[in-house]
Amino acid sequence: MSAPAPAPRAQGKRAPGPSNWRMFHLFSDFARDSIATLHAMRERYGDVVRWPMPHDTVHVVYHPDGVKHLLQDNYRNYIKGPAYLAMKPFIGEGLLLAEGDNWLRLRRLTQPPFHRHNLSRFVDTMVHFASTTFDRWEEVNRQGGTLDAEKEMMELTLVIVGATLLSAHLSDSASHIGHSVSDMLEVIERRVNSVLPVPLAIPTPNNRRFLRAKKTLDAVVAEVLERKHRLGPEKENDMLSMLMQVRDQDTGEGMSDSLLHDSVMTMIIAGHETSANTLAWAWYRLSRHPDVEQRVFEELEQVLGGRPPTLEDMPKLKYLQRVLEEILRLYPAAWMLARRALEEDVISGFHIPKGSLIYFSPYMVHRHPDFWPDPERFDPDRFLPENQEGRTRFSYFPFGGGPRQCIGYQFAMMEIMLILAVGLQRFRPRLAEDHQVGIRLVITMRPLNGVKLRLEPRVRAQAA
Ligand code: HEM
Repeated sequence: MSAPAPAPRAQGKRAPGPSNWRMFHLFSDFARDSIATLHAMRERYGDVVRWPMPHDTVHVVYHPDGVKHLLQDNYRNYIKGPAYLAMKPFIGEGLLLAEGDNWLRLRRLTQPPFHRHNLSRFVDTMVHFASTTFDRWEEVNRQGGTLDAEKEMMELTLVIVGATLLSAHLSDSASHIGHSVSDMLEVIERRVNSVLPVPLAIPTPNNRRFLRAKKTLDAVVAEVLERKHRLGPEKENDMLSMLMQVRDQDTGEGMSDSLLHDSVMTMIIAGHETSANTLAWAWYRLSRHPDVEQRVFEELEQVLGGRPPTLEDMPKLKYLQRVLEEILRLYPAAWMLARRALEEDVISGFHIPKGSLIYFSPYMVHRHPDFWPDPERFDPDRFLPENQEGRTRFSYFPFGGGPRQCIGYQFAMMEIMLILAVGLQRFRPRLAEDHQVGIRLVITMRPLNGVKLRLEPRVRAQAA
């Protein structure tokens, strides 16, 4: 019997890119200013660039068609990249990291609370915690203090994830959790960008920080699980209760403790930090564009007339939605995604060797001048239906796309719109004097130095 014929080699040219001797320059340029370096590479080499790396084959894809190929057309050929893997000690086999059949099973089990028709259950909780936060903001403002919207939004979104998905009260631990998540992301950023990351078992200051963060977050998750076991999962109707009651059709077994731990940790980590950053960027941009902020307020007056928002109001808040879409275009919290090729492939005519690491960035694609005219300009009307006609698919993907699109996409959009609607009815955000906001990349895209705000009380037109 003859041996099977070898699989035909994928066609495609070798992608252009800097030569090997530029490797260390590139490394230091990227470490100093990742965004400028990524822009410069696209301008020089085009939409698929091969980056020389000492221990890996790396390609950066900038074209929406390439993104579509990775996330949708040939997604089975790709697994998640190194930043996710570096989170493994925290989120283990949770949804963000799971692959193949394990992922599919977990995705199906986790999906129900995120279905649109189930989201209505969360509205009152979101509005309640937003109002409580803004009561406190107004008090701090009355006393002449400033507010750091980044820190405040981290706490608010964390408390909301706890209350809605886990029935857990995370307010007391919010600042510990926030610090631990920041520590974790910062250390991962360094590890991913370092040529030779030091093994975690060696107690360097960074490794100790990483493991301390893990210990804190593990303790929070253990408490959430212990409370739920004690109470009985059938007593509450949230995502965690549902996962605890799932039984395998064949074996009758429930989810293992370790998978429950990973699922709770995934929701805590993935479910608050990205929404909080988006909100922080929204407060920043609204404080810089009083005309836009006034237009949002007028819409809120017209739709809500001073009452709290409901789910039914969401489709009517069309301008607010466009503002949020434009914020997510300019500041996609998950600014850089990565995959590793299981088999060789061709993307936009370029050969991708088996095992290549591929980076593709919503931030870069959202500012690609071929798809977004005057890309730096803040203009929510880009998202008017008539301006979206004919837009190239995957030129906009703040929540990823294809089967692994963000499971919390609608949850996050609703949460952010509700929080902004509650706040903007009460005050006008103003950036504190002399406060400069820049971009800080720590896996996610955060505002450098936070967003320091003062509030200007809202003056409402008197009813006749
Ligand atoms: C503005 C807020 C958010 C943004 C920008 C965002 C962004 C993303 C992106 C880009 C992905 C895909 C990553 C990839 O393909 O490599 C993703 C996946 C995911 N997100 Fe979000 N996310 C947000 C909010 C949320 C919320 C609120 C939750 C949960 C409550 C959540 C949970 C997840 C999970 C579990 C995944 C993995 C899904 C899977 O692989 O099946 N995210 N998110």
